[in-house]
Amino acid sequence: MEIIVKDTVEEMSQVAARVVAKTLNAKPDAVLGLATGSTPLGLYQELVRMHQAEGLDFSQVTTFHLDAYVGLKQKHPQSYHYFMDENLFRHINIPHQNVYIPSGTTDNYEAFCKWYEQRIVECGGIDLQVLGIGTDGHIAFNEPSSSLGSRTRIKTLAKQTIDDNARFFESPDEVPVYAITMGVGTILEAERIILLAHGKHKSDAVAKAIEGPVTSMITASALQLHPDVLFIIDREAASSLDMLEYYEWIQDKMPDAP
Ligand code: F6R
Repeated sequence: MEIIVKDTVEEMSQVAARVVAKTLNAKPDAVLGLATGSTPLGLYQELVRMHQAEGLDFSQVTTFHLDAYVGLKQKHPQSYHYFMDENLFRHINIPHQNVYIPSGTTDNYEAFCKWYEQRIVECGGIDLQVLGIGTDGHIAFNEPSSSLGSRTRIKTLAKQTIDDNARFFESPDEVPVYAITMGVGTILEAERIILLAHGKHKSDAVAKAIEGPVTSMITASALQLHPDVLFIIDREAASSLDMLEYYEWIQDKMPDAP
């Protein structure tokens, strides 16, 4: 695992965008795994800037998305379809048919989840997976006690996640209780993974993910089992790490640091 600590969210986002751009420059038809939520907003803004100002090309890119709320139609302002369209897709040149977002309104979730997993494999697997982290240590919506071998399925959201995400809705009662989410096992099959986090409220989850035991109670800790994971975090999110000085020492010596 590598850890890059940056002073600001802007710098965190720029580093992440450089990692994505490097992936696309090396493999123009790369498959990206993408997250929603507030964490990757700066990354998406930077990718839009790179597309518009530097010609970063998405015309052959395919994306798979981590999760979606069950019950929200694509046009709902809090649906992850809507989020991705508003914040990324309508500003870049990705073909609509190359975007895969879990359906929150299918009438057969089991079949959909199987198809989604199969589609990832048919597209060659995910080259670069972008993750955020929940305050309860979740990746995607793999809430505490999710199997570390889990695949795409429906999960009940933890009360903490519902409370955290209530800020996007008019009231906490409107936050869906179920989500369809890639599993921890699905995520671990990505070739490379970057996890972004900023803010003091993420510091505990980040420290447990990096320095704690591998446990299904903090599903981000399963990333310790993956051979190519990069945490890109701001100083506040890094503030509970016991070994911060050590990570910064390594970071200074990182060859080809993004
Ligand atoms: C979203 C997702 C979640 C978020 C996490 C952090 O697609 O998979 O795991 O990354 O809940 O959310 P924010 O970024 O809003 O703090």
